[in-house]
Amino acid sequence: MDGRIVVGTFRDGGGENGMSELVRLTDVTKVYQGGLTGALNGISVSIEKGEFTAIMGPSGSGKSTMLNLVAGLDRPTSGTIAVGGTDLGKLGEAGLARFRRDHIGFVFQFFYLLPNLTALENILIPAQLMGNVATARAAELLDQLGITDVADRYPARLSGGQQQRVAVARALINNPMLLLADEPTGALDTHTGEQVMELLAGLHRQGQTILLVTHDAKLATRHAARVISVMDGKIVDDARLESPERAPSDVIRVRTEEVSR
Ligand SMILES: Nc1ncnc2c1ncn2[C@@H]1O[C@H](COP(=O)(O)OP(=O)(O)OP(=O)(O)O)[C@@H](O)[C@H]1O
Ligand SMILES: [Mg+2]
Repeated sequence: MDGRIVVGTFRDGGGENGMSELVRLTDVTKVYQGGLTGALNGISVSIEKGEFTAIMGPSGSGKSTMLNLVAGLDRPTSGTIAVGGTDLGKLGEAGLARFRRDHIGFVFQFFYLLPNLTALENILIPAQLMGNVATARAAELLDQLGITDVADRYPARLSGGQQQRVAVARALINNPMLLLADEPTGALDTHTGEQVMELLAGLHRQGQTILLVTHDAKLATRHAARVISVMDGKIVDDARLESPERAPSDVIRVRTEEVSR
């Protein structure tokens, strides 16, 4: 792939199935009904287990479309998407819904908490859908995300940052193999957005695979270890970066060095 940078031990040698591959998109296109051009125009990419990847690109470039397809919320026009070894195209509607419930956590820009349920009740919903009592797991997440003291409050009485933490806890209650987040800091002020990203980075350090869409280059380069750039429904760059605390200018420097090798 043009512009692909490989740093460290990662190998994408085109092998069928690296041991640790979690997501693979192969020649994925998406044309919405009534769309003049494709929202995705031939995306092929592989995400390893444990990676923290940011997807960046201009408005309308296909970022949310890509995330929704990986989540099984929508289907591609052509191409295949495999998550955890499951070919999503082979699942029917019920199978896809089950797949989402059991394996995917999704965090949205505007939280989407149910207003008539408390924070804790919101967090427990996905577990209840599985028929699980997850009180201990919920307590652990409340603690980890620093929202134990607001567990019994309704969303209207929570700050934006608190609401997003509740949404993150809800996304994680079923221990999903993949956490997807579409602009999770987009509705938060800079400081709160930074805190939410710190939390995501902490989850990543504990092994959580995260695929995140963000407009914020600073946040992406500071916390994610890989930045995929999308434009007009195509991947135009894919950079893996080794050292933490990278400034955007560092990313460009790293890429230049790698390319000239
Ligand atoms: N449900 C839909 N029906 C028709 N066209 C759509 C639909 N959703 C997205 N599109 C179109 O597909 C293209 C990609 O949209 P997408 O939402 O994936 O972009 P994005 O990169 O997430 O943009 P943003 O940064 O503004 O969220 C755009 O041209 C958009 O107008
Ligand atoms: Mg979007």
